[in-house]
This record gives sequence, structure tokens and C-alpha cells, in this order.
Amino acid sequence: MTADEHNGTPRALTPAPSYDLTGKVCFMAGGTSGINQRIAERFATAGAKVFVMSRKPEKVEATVALLREAGAESDGQAADVRDYQAIEAAVEACADRWGPLDMVLAGQAGNFPAGAAQMSANAFKSVIDIDLLGTFNVFRAAIHRCRRPGAVFLTISAPQATRPYPYQSHVCAAKAGVNMLVKCLAMEWGPVGVRVNGISPGPIDGTEGMDRLAPNEKMRETYRKQLALRTFGDRDDIADAALWLCSGGADYVTGTILEVEGGTTLGDASS
Ligand code: HXC
Repeated sequence: MTADEHNGTPRALTPAPSYDLTGKVCFMAGGTSGINQRIAERFATAGAKVFVMSRKPEKVEATVALLREAGAESDGQAADVRDYQAIEAAVEACADRWGPLDMVLAGQAGNFPAGAAQMSANAFKSVIDIDLLGTFNVFRAAIHRCRRPGAVFLTISAPQATRPYPYQSHVCAAKAGVNMLVKCLAMEWGPVGVRVNGISPGPIDGTEGMDRLAPNEKMRETYRKQLALRTFGDRDDIADAALWLCSGGADYVTGTILEVEGGTTLGDASS
């Protein structure tokens, strides 16, 4: 027992928040590779039932098998985030099976380096459609089947949302839109007890995004030297942040983009 700071009455110390997700239902778009698959694993080991959705059926099957082998309850369905009806069908399948969604993750992403003067309009549109419209589609399809109050919506943004990069105009524009979408939806859905947040991962080793943006050791070294922390992140860094944002420890956090990026947006720290 300790004394209450206001009135001096004895009280117990406050407990640390629990990261136990036992029985919670998690719907994940893009949960079958890279960062998102690690988040799926983290949520599963914390006790959640995890439903994954991505474009390729074989990747969905592989992730469901991985999670089931580890003892988790898991299922999935293939759908493209650009196909609203297909997402709705996946959300229905998840909610019909396990009940209202407690966590909704829109983690899908599309990216390739390309100069704006060379990129086709369709190339630009593809990234906007996957990253920005795709996040809207997943969240819009899930809002009517989620737990209220209590659901947590999460998307994966990027440093490109706030820091301009050459050859990334499509991603910068899309992710800036994602950040603003998070804030608008947090305002609209907060009153019914739904939190909406994002994570902005920096360079995360071993991901397709990193392989595309820094495909050789020379580029990796240049990139690393610019980072305040002088090292790339790993998938666990993002999974841990996602777990916290979806836990009761973050139950007063909404409309936030949590930067887990080793100082990327601080600027070039090489000098
Ligand atoms: C220029 C390109 C291109 C490239 C595709 N296009 N790749 N243009 N340079 N390297 C053009 C195509 O020619 C086409 O335009 C249009 O983009 C659509 O291409 P499709 O292949 O038909 O589309 P689709 O199959 O839907 O593929 C979408 C995609 C693709 C985004 C283009 O790369 C993809 O599926 N990516 C998903 C995986 C991914 O990108 N992971 C990395 C995410 S990492 P035309 O005019 O010919 O029709 C990330 C985080 C980065 O986002 C942050 C790191 C710090």
C-alpha cells in the first residue's frame, strides 16, 4: 500500500497493463508476409484469433498453417484491398466465425522507386489504390462488424508520409493521405469507443520494402549512416509497437501515428 497523492488514503500500487489478447478477434489485411506477418504472430502468441487476408491464396494458406501449427486459432481468405466487395466478404467470414472484430489491421502496401516524369498514371494510381484507398476499404468494411466500444483499428504508414523523397512521389502522397485518414476516422469513431492509430516503420531489415529501396550493400550502408540510431529495425520492433497500441495500455491513444523508425524523420544524421 502507498498513500494516494491527493488525499493521503492508503491504496495498492497500480498494476502494469496486460498484453494478453486471449479470445480477441483480429482481422488483418496484408498479414501474410513481412512486418504484418510478424504482427500476426505476435497477436496469436498473445492469445488472439487471427484472420489474415491478402491477395495470394497460397500466402494466406501458408500463414494460417504457420499460426495453427503454433497452436493459435487462425483462418483466412484471399482478397485484394482494391476490391471492396471481396474485403466485405472476408470481414463477414471472420465475424460470422468468431464474432465482433476487436482488432482491425490494414497493413498492405505497394511500393517501387520511380521518377514521376517516367511513371505512368496507372503506376501512380496503383500505389494510391493499395495504400490509401485500400486502408479506407478495409476500415470501412470492418467498422460495422467490430466491437463497440473497444475495437482498435491500426494501419501501417511510412516516413514518406511526412518526409519527401525523390522517386517516391506516389508513396509520399498515399501515406500522407493515410496519416490524415487515421486522424479523421479517430475523430468520427472515437465517440463510439473505437480507436484508430497508425505505425510508421523506418527501414526494417529483411522486408520486401527494404529490398526494393536499398537493393545492394552500398545503398544499405549509405542509408544506415543517415540514421540517428545507425541501425535498421527488425520486424519485432513493429510487432511490439502494434501489440502495445492494441492493448489496454494504450486505451487513451487515438489518432496517432507512432514512429518506430530509428530517427528517420529527424533527417540525415550522417554528419
Ligand atoms: C515503374 C511500375 C513499376 C516500377 C510497376 N509499375 N512496377 N512502374 N516502375 N518498378 C507500373 C506498371 O507498369 C503498371 O503501370 C502499374 O504500375 C501497375 O502495375 P501492376 O504490376 O499491373 O500492378 P499490381 O500487380 O497490382 O502491382 C502493384 C504494385 C506492385 C504496387 C505495382 O509493386 C505490388 O504488388 N507491390 C506489392 C508488394 C510491395 O510493393 N511491397 C513493398 C511494400 S514496402 P502500366 O501503366 O504499365 O499499366 C512499402 C514501405 C516502404 O511500401 C517504406 C520503406 C522505408
